[in-house]
Amino acid sequence: MTSSRTQVGIVGAGPAGLMLGQLLHLQGIDSVILENRSRHHVVERVRAGVLEQGTVDLMREVGVGGRLAREGLRHDGIHLAFNGARHRIDMAELTGGRAITIYGQNEVVHDLVEARLETGRPLHFEVEGVSVHDLESRAPHIRFQREGTSHELICDVIAGCDGFHGICRPSIPASRLRLYERVYPFGWLGILAEAAPSSDELVYSLHDRGFALYSMRSPQVTRLYLQCAPDEDVAQWSDERIWAELRTRLATADGWRPNEGPIFQKGVTGMRSFVAEPMRFGRLFLAGDAAHIVPPTGAKGLNLAMADVYRLSGALAEFYGSGRERLLDCYSGRALARTWRAQRFSWWMTSMLHRSGGDNPFDDRRQLAELEYLVSSRAALTSLAESYTGAPLEA
Ligand code: APR
Ligand code: PHB
Repeated sequence: MTSSRTQVGIVGAGPAGLMLGQLLHLQGIDSVILENRSRHHVVERVRAGVLEQGTVDLMREVGVGGRLAREGLRHDGIHLAFNGARHRIDMAELTGGRAITIYGQNEVVHDLVEARLETGRPLHFEVEGVSVHDLESRAPHIRFQREGTSHELICDVIAGCDGFHGICRPSIPASRLRLYERVYPFGWLGILAEAAPSSDELVYSLHDRGFALYSMRSPQVTRLYLQCAPDEDVAQWSDERIWAELRTRLATADGWRPNEGPIFQKGVTGMRSFVAEPMRFGRLFLAGDAAHIVPPTGAKGLNLAMADVYRLSGALAEFYGSGRERLLDCYSGRALARTWRAQRFSWWMTSMLHRSGGDNPFDDRRQLAELEYLVSSRAALTSLAESYTGAPLEA
């Protein structure tokens, strides 16, 4: 077994691990990023695509905002559709200028991988058998295999950025973690289609047959979602069936409907809310999906991951600059405060916009009353816009 040292060992090369590596690099702090999948897999994986202003600003500040500035689509508003009508919410006007930017998470990962490779600092794909040890000591370490050889990486700190299914969170003794979870009785069937967007902005729609979301990736590609069963079999969904269902759930009385075109990607994702507390055990710090999952209706997952690592990098800068651990000690509490705000918002958007089969008809009417109140009240719309566009990263 070979043994080496770094300051921060980062497990996972998703948005959280890669952004943390870049933030540390800019502060002269060494890190090694270990990823168990291939570079191709990580960069091609289709995920969400809504960036809060804070995430956009962070990408620019760390030097990876060039393509995002050119290709990202800035949206000042969104639409809510129900009862056959679309209602535009002017988020920028309601929040004093905050907007969102549409840019696929896989593009974010692509740009961060390129930036990491340019720094020459280690980013190892396709490592195997990753495990973390001695987490409560001052020299926690990571073991893994790479190209058939076993390695031990001794660190000052380990960042668990390995997503919901990673190994870092399960390495914390169960007695030292409290888990909160809600699994929803539905999922999303998501597609990418070669069709020019027929709306400049996203449309979140509640229909009797369930939720549908109209989104996009570029001036040529639309991204659409349908509420479905959590274990829906994609094979049962021909392109024609998907378009028919999208038309039914999205078309509004003003004649608007999605443009159609060849579908080149289909997938089903389940939906859950999940939080692990605290986000720290000894010298292991969890960030992003490793610590929390939100249902995608509020578009918060990627942005929360970015907020976590921004906070963690500030704490590590203090630690290496002055030896103080004050900000490291505050990390979990502050990150969880933001996480719970996002959990509340994501749960609220999800329950307002999805039909949970078996609902009492009272709940259906209450759901519509909530939407009607929302679009009629500037106070309620301001609340939605404030949460949707996101608080500054420090908050
Ligand atoms: N060893 C090394 N890497 C691992 C391991 C392991 N044992 N297990 C998982 N990973 C990798 C995954 O392959 C993935 O590339 O960790 C990475 C985690 O990345 P993400 O799942 O994208 O999580 P995160 O970086 O926290 O980003 C959160 O991703 O799931 C979306 O909606 C979510 O947008 C949010 C964002
Ligand atoms: C997306 O474009 O993939 C998307 C947009 C908004 C969401 C979730 C996903 O709430």
